[in-house]
Amino acid sequence: MNKSILLLAVPIVVVAAPLAMSRNSTTPMSEVTETQAVTPLKNAFKGKFRIGAAVSTAMLQGQDDGSTQLVKTHFDSVTAENAMKPAEIQPREGEFTFANADKLVEIAEQSGGSVVGHTLVWHSQTPGWFFQGKDGQPVTREVALARLQAHIKAVVGRYKGRIKEWDVVNEAINDGPGLLRQTPWLKAVGEDYLAEAFRAAHEADPDAILVYNDYNIELDYKRPKALELVKKLLDQKVPIHAVGIQSHWRIENPPLAETEKAIQEFSALGLKVMITELDMGVLPTRYQGADVSRREAMTPEQMAVMNPYTKGLPDEVAVKHGEKLKEAFDLFLKYRKNIGRVTLWGVNDGHSWLNNFPVRGRTDYPLLFDRALKPKPAFFSIQKAAEAVGK
Ligand code: XIL
Repeated sequence: MNKSILLLAVPIVVVAAPLAMSRNSTTPMSEVTETQAVTPLKNAFKGKFRIGAAVSTAMLQGQDDGSTQLVKTHFDSVTAENAMKPAEIQPREGEFTFANADKLVEIAEQSGGSVVGHTLVWHSQTPGWFFQGKDGQPVTREVALARLQAHIKAVVGRYKGRIKEWDVVNEAINDGPGLLRQTPWLKAVGEDYLAEAFRAAHEADPDAILVYNDYNIELDYKRPKALELVKKLLDQKVPIHAVGIQSHWRIENPPLAETEKAIQEFSALGLKVMITELDMGVLPTRYQGADVSRREAMTPEQMAVMNPYTKGLPDEVAVKHGEKLKEAFDLFLKYRKNIGRVTLWGVNDGHSWLNNFPVRGRTDYPLLFDRALKPKPAFFSIQKAAEAVGK
């Protein structure tokens, strides 16, 4: 058993920001937003596409009810940020832990929203037991494939008819040369693990929308590979219905022109496009991807430059963040016939994974609500963008 697989299988714990930095210092900008009427965001998107948020495990366990209330009010699609990943839902073979996922379904059903199952097959947050026998040796293809199928059957089957959309395979495309990422699944099963995963999900719930989800597949370096992969699957009559573009972006360079091409090209294959993990970080970064195994260590001197807003976000940056998200939503709205949903990767800035990725311990501001759960300029700018567009 390769040690790096075991390492990757350990969920990365997002450290909650200490209280002192968990509230924005009140800025004139947030005073302005406080006086604006806050109507449910999802109303503005009705008839266009679903608007979603990732829900943390803390929320599912009743430890962040303020954020949960925001989800119920403003979003009509929810994705578990971690609770449905293989390491969480089947930590040991045959031992399923569904409590958090059940809670997510309950939240969605109470508030008239729907759930996206995230994710069935991934190289990260996946326990090593899938790939090794009791003797510690790698299992045969047959055993690994049977485990993949059993996992999908159990998880998709439990929520049949209640979870209508699944991120079936996550991040299978290689960033470097070659089509497929070298993952434990590829090594254990072979190239057809993707096709088999989609087939198993379809068998468990023939009505579910099945998504291939990845980061950077809108970009020129990776889009051709994503097209090649989904074309291959379609040619083999594999049941795949949509492509998920994660969209972990930064205000300096949201790749909108490339995203427009991606939406056109995936749509031309008859697939829906989902924007699955949108966030718009404001901090400087050297790394542009979302490979969760990437970590950048910083000296204190580098941190001072790379973590400039520990005391609050300057108004002009909050406004720029709102403008960039508005530009993104203008594009999504233009292609609303092709897009099934847009999901923000979190609810409030204090709990965004970007506070710890790719550099640990920073203070980022990528989402629609601030650390005090107040809507930010970006909230109002995308709401307006949606209201300006007819169905
Ligand atoms: C991230 C979560 O936000 C973190 O809490 C966790 O520690 C690591 O995973 N691509 C994905 C998501 O598909 O599942 C990842 O979520 C972010 C990158």
